[in-house]
Amino acid sequence: MKSIYITVIFTVLCSSLLQLTQGNACCSYPCQNQGICNTKGFDSYTCDCTGLDYYGDNCEHPTLWKRFVLLIKPSPEGLHHLLVNNKWLWTLINNISYLKNKAMKRIYTMRSIMVDSPAVYESVHEYPTLEAALNYTYFARTLPPVPTECPTPLGVKGKKVLPDVDLLVDKFFKRTTFLPDPLGSSVLFTFFAQHFTHQFFKTDFKAGPAYQWGGHGVDVSHIYGRDKQSELTLRSMKDGKMKMQVLNGEEFPPYLKDAPVHMIYPPGTPDNKQFALGQQVFGLLPGLFVYATIWLREHNRVCDVLKQEHPEWDDERLFQTAKLIITGETIKIVIEDYVQHLSNYHYKLSFNPELLFGEEFQYQNRITIEFNHLYHWHPLMPDEFNISGTVYPIKDFVFQSDLVIKHGMKSFVDSFSKQRAGMMSHHNHCYMTLSVVRDTIKHGRELRLQSLNRYRQRFGLPAYKSFQELTGETKMAAELEELYGDIDGLEFYVGLIVEKRREKAMFGSSIVEIGGPYSVKGLMSNPICSPKFWKPSTFGGEVGFNLIKTASIQKLFCQNIKGECPTVSFQVPNYVEGDVEDFIKKFHDEL
Ligand code: HEM
Ligand SMILES: *[C@@H]1O[C@H](CO)[C@@H](O)[C@H](O)[C@H]1NC(C)=O
Ligand SMILES: *[C@@H]1O[C@H](CO)[C@@H](O)[C@H](O)[C@H]1NC(C)=O
Ligand SMILES: *[C@@H]1O[C@H](CO)[C@@H](O)[C@H](O)[C@H]1NC(C)=O
Repeated sequence: MKSIYITVIFTVLCSSLLQLTQGNACCSYPCQNQGICNTKGFDSYTCDCTGLDYYGDNCEHPTLWKRFVLLIKPSPEGLHHLLVNNKWLWTLINNISYLKNKAMKRIYTMRSIMVDSPAVYESVHEYPTLEAALNYTYFARTLPPVPTECPTPLGVKGKKVLPDVDLLVDKFFKRTTFLPDPLGSSVLFTFFAQHFTHQFFKTDFKAGPAYQWGGHGVDVSHIYGRDKQSELTLRSMKDGKMKMQVLNGEEFPPYLKDAPVHMIYPPGTPDNKQFALGQQVFGLLPGLFVYATIWLREHNRVCDVLKQEHPEWDDERLFQTAKLIITGETIKIVIEDYVQHLSNYHYKLSFNPELLFGEEFQYQNRITIEFNHLYHWHPLMPDEFNISGTVYPIKDFVFQSDLVIKHGMKSFVDSFSKQRAGMMSHHNHCYMTLSVVRDTIKHGRELRLQSLNRYRQRFGLPAYKSFQELTGETKMAAELEELYGDIDGLEFYVGLIVEKRREKAMFGSSIVEIGGPYSVKGLMSNPICSPKFWKPSTFGGEVGFNLIKTASIQKLFCQNIKGECPTVSFQVPNYVEGDVEDFIKKFHDEL
């Protein structure tokens, strides 16, 4: 009797010890093709293949139909190759509206279908919760956290302890030589990226990296303020317009003392360098101040246009309608100028909400933590800024919004258009942004983000088989292998940065194939794109509707800067395709 007792206790002890060392049965990610793993008791699991074109214990078998689809479907790599080459083919397609629209509809649907809507996961539970879908204080999440009890930080693969963050930053992130972007992107592009995305990437650092304080999409809160109170403070309450002031003969945002909203400036910043802007961090860089200024000028210009059409409208209606138009112009410019540039496709992208009418599509959006991390494009920042011949090292640029007033908008826009952005790669973070990388990696760990390979598979990309395949070289690959032990044990953000670049592209395949879906979904799910909004009357009639349909980055600046138009471009004017490839290759060889 006693011995049975002891045996039982011994077995229980052993199995719980085993539990401690082996985690749970889902830690090895046995379910394939997006099957959902669920533990079943302490040492077993099941895969839920519902809604997938796969069946079997591990969702490993494609259905007959799926087999056929897989056979004829081009690979993401093949499709990319097709899109950045064959100019003649795309010129033809661009010119046949039937084909052009068919292609665009496909891009909208194939990209956005990759994003869960409503959201299923957030970062504090490892399984679906109603909170994920309904509680906006969380960033949503595409893949749930790695279970806490797993034997390694990324499941069962890789080392038990992840590499030291400072070591990683030193070895793979720190810039020694400025590496220019191979597509010739300009600094105007860089600041557009930062300005536009900070309306929805708003981590609540006090609460922790799982939480955020934004509105989960393109809500133009970076122009109008975080809440109603701020918006009312920034409005002039006359003719729908926003508060502005004239400095050096140009219109600029008001000083903070004249429109007290919450802004972040270092202590001791003089009053004439403190402006009231829609986003609390936009005092950080003059580039953000340039965009804040131009959008306010555009808003007030739109108000004038609307007032001409509708002298009967009051301040409130002019304001609200102008805000809708600014939202539309933003999306138009993001798709047709910004994404067009960064994709480097010969196919001409278009903003056309009507293409989704009648399709299965949810007009709702949630910002995920993965999208946030993936958009940490700090390598795009150069170390210094050349404003009409005066060179400012970055440390003399931060929190100096007043430089824009000194040099003038025209000079700034012209200079930003002519200066080249950095390449989005390893060894290219300027010293000012090294602390951000450190934080990003640490947050990724705290949130237990799954491995890069898991994310690749979730977004229809093949998992990398080796570090060499990931980086496309051998030296870094060997160092990474030493540090991480296993390619399936490589963390998300580090992987994105060390990944080899795609042919004729700004990024590796992961950033594009994972970021693309979030981007398309975020833009096209905007309320103004829905059938009840997307009609002339919403925007004050055909005149307002046309402001959206004809918006461009060129017009945004030229219509709001007096006199001769500056150079306005997301690509530097002297760009020659492939002009820095040799320079980059030499740098890599010398690593
Ligand atoms: C020199 C220029 C820049 C500086 C000094 C800078 C600095 C920072 C800092 C201090 C944070 C706060 C978070 C942290 O420490 O984890 C941050 C967050 C972030 N930055 Fe930058 N940044 C710069 C440029 C850019 C650019 C060009 C982009 C391009 C899109 C970008 C994207 C982001 C994103 C997405 C976040 C997360 C924001 C959030 O979740 O609240 N940054 N950056
Ligand atoms: C499209 O094709 C028509 C007729 O073939 C031609 O006149 C026009 O210039 C083309 N437009 C573009 C943008 O290629
Ligand atoms: C949303 O989540 C946060 C953080 O857990 C919590 O403080 C808040 O009360 C939740 N809101 C609702 C409406 O449940
Ligand atoms: C700054 O830009 C101007 C052109 O705007 C150029 O002539 C000059 O050489 C640049 N200076 C430096 C130090 O890069």
